[in-house]
Amino acid sequence: MKRIVVAVGALLLGAGVVLAQQDVAVQQQNLMKTQGKSMYGVMLKMVKGEIPYDQAAVTAAMTDLEAQVVKIPTVFTPNPKEDVADANFGASQKIWQSKADFDAKVPPVSKTIAEVKGSVKDAASLKVAFDAIQAKCTDCHETFRVKLK
Ligand code: HEC
Repeated sequence: MKRIVVAVGALLLGAGVVLAQQDVAVQQQNLMKTQGKSMYGVMLKMVKGEIPYDQAAVTAAMTDLEAQVVKIPTVFTPNPKEDVADANFGASQKIWQSKADFDAKVPPVSKTIAEVKGSVKDAASLKVAFDAIQAKCTDCHETFRVKLK
């Protein structure tokens, strides 16, 4: 009987660990998705003329992006050791093999947002700002993001 209790306990513990790792992976993905919302759901759509240019919405998107980007090094501290179920992208193991290199990709994003945000006044200047920020996002994605499908 005692042995069964221990075995069930271990099973539950195992399930808990798996769940926690999915939680970490989901949390990391959610941070990126939030950034994606500001970049692609707002700014890129305005650049492409899919939605009308809206200064207040651009300012809000830039402010939110700045607040999210600085969270990357902390949110990506635990290695979830698995990808979000059915995800398009995953985190490369290189992140946890060279965390300092990963973290070093973050300040250039913040710096670029700070530099360009004041210059945006219409769709044309937004395109310049968007491309500058996007280049810094890509600089990390090229090394540390894995395409799963
Ligand atoms: C320091 C590295 C790093 C930087 C900088 C970075 N990302 Fe990511 N990003 C990742 C990693 C790793 C993944 C894959 C794991 C994941 O989705 O959690 C990812 C995934 C994504 C995804 C896909 C999410 C999904 O649906 O699975 C989007 C969208 C994204 N990033 C947007 C951005 C944007 C926009 C920026 C710039 C403002 C940015 N990222 C900057 C590392 C970074």
